[in-house]
Amino acid sequence: MAKVKTVFFCKECGYESGGYMGKCPACQEWNTFVEKKITNEKTKEVFTDRSPFNMKKAKKIEDIESISHSRVKTGYNEFDRVLGGGIVPGSLVLIAGDPGIGKSTLMLMLSGSVSKQKKVLYVSGEESESQIKMRAQRLNITGDNLFIYSETSISDVLSQIEEVNPSYVIIDSVQTLYDSEIDSVPGSVTQIREITATLMKLSKQHKITVFIVGHVTKDGGIAGPRVLEHMVDTVLYFEGERHMSFRILRCVKNRFGSTREIGVFEMRDVGLVQVENPSQAMLTGRPLDTPGTAVVCTMEGSRPMLVEIQALISNSNLTNPRRMSTGFDYNRVSLLLAVLEKRAGFKMYDADAFVNVIGGIKIYEPAADLGLAAAIISSYTNKVIPHDYIFFGEIGLTGEVRAVSGIEKRINESVRLNFKNIVVPHGNKDAVEAAFGKNSKALDGVEIIYINNIQMLSF
Ligand code: TYD
Ligand code: MG
Repeated sequence: MAKVKTVFFCKECGYESGGYMGKCPACQEWNTFVEKKITNEKTKEVFTDRSPFNMKKAKKIEDIESISHSRVKTGYNEFDRVLGGGIVPGSLVLIAGDPGIGKSTLMLMLSGSVSKQKKVLYVSGEESESQIKMRAQRLNITGDNLFIYSETSISDVLSQIEEVNPSYVIIDSVQTLYDSEIDSVPGSVTQIREITATLMKLSKQHKITVFIVGHVTKDGGIAGPRVLEHMVDTVLYFEGERHMSFRILRCVKNRFGSTREIGVFEMRDVGLVQVENPSQAMLTGRPLDTPGTAVVCTMEGSRPMLVEIQALISNSNLTNPRRMSTGFDYNRVSLLLAVLEKRAGFKMYDADAFVNVIGGIKIYEPAADLGLAAAIISSYTNKVIPHDYIFFGEIGLTGEVRAVSGIEKRINESVRLNFKNIVVPHGNKDAVEAAFGKNSKALDGVEIIYINNIQMLSF
């Protein structure tokens, strides 16, 4: 008879332990340990796998077949870019995001597109077949090679995969699937872990590309996305504000490429539309004669993107003035306010400060500091920043403006969108002159303003 053993593991990071712990020693989270029962049948399996007869041999690196040449284009440039140039056959990709952000829409569009070449099985545990059909009709998706299966039991899904024999499988979502042999509810970490392990075997042994959709709760709680992240090849986050139309597809883990690229989409009533010129889209509708708005250029991977930052500074009658930030790191905003107060003499201690990045975009790059500082100063002094000004530079604690990377691309993008006054860190001067020469044609009519301290910021 199978002997049952109990182990505990952290639902955040997957750390395993023999006993319950209040705090996870690996990820330092509290109350994240859940119990799991394991039968010793599994243990036996592990040992037979490792017997000398079944053991795999180590190979010379020269003898291993490379997979870089075999990427498949999806038909969506923005998607291919994030994956590092297309789908790697046999990979396991997680698409995570808040509910309602557009994951199912993206996956259905992708299925429609790749099914032009190979068979696709779209498994949904959330919607009925007719609901998916309705959505597909709205998105104008058709094709003989696209199979839809609405089911939540993993064993049924596996038998359908065997029958249909697809090259691509979409699982929407991993939280709805369950393995009836596991005694815990769908969506629990145990279920998610087992199901992902099964899908991993499927993708590696049969060279089927599997896309797993995963919901993320705000606190990253029961959904167990961290556990998933360890197991899959690629993790993509689909993010954006639900009530805004822009969606960013961001890669946070990629075993087959860079993780720095993003894809930009817009949610319209015809589905997700690729935004191939995001700078232009982000700046549409920008107020040109109002204080408190500045444009920055952020680099997302190899791609520069112009974004508008707004700030509103007003007198506060609260003991603790309000500070709010959307799209910009809250602590970074507090830090910049303190630097502006201490190094540039703006009295921020009794002011409410609100910061917003337009378009539902999140900025992670310190190169946007200078633009944010400019927007804050503009709102504080009630002075409009001329519409053809753009800023990039990181601000240090002493108020110094520090050089940023990718200066040439940032300037080119700014010039392309008709910015005439480009405020850049002094530390980038050599790089700018190396790239454009002292009187380059590319910079005709454009003034590069070098500053090395926040006090020099003027417009
Ligand atoms: P959905 O893909 O179902 O989100 P998720 O799978 O991440 O939970 O889509 C979310 C929203 O997108 C939905 O509320 C309506 C909107 N939407 C459109 O605006 N246009 C469309 O063509 C479609 C299909 C959806
Ligand atoms: Mg969905």
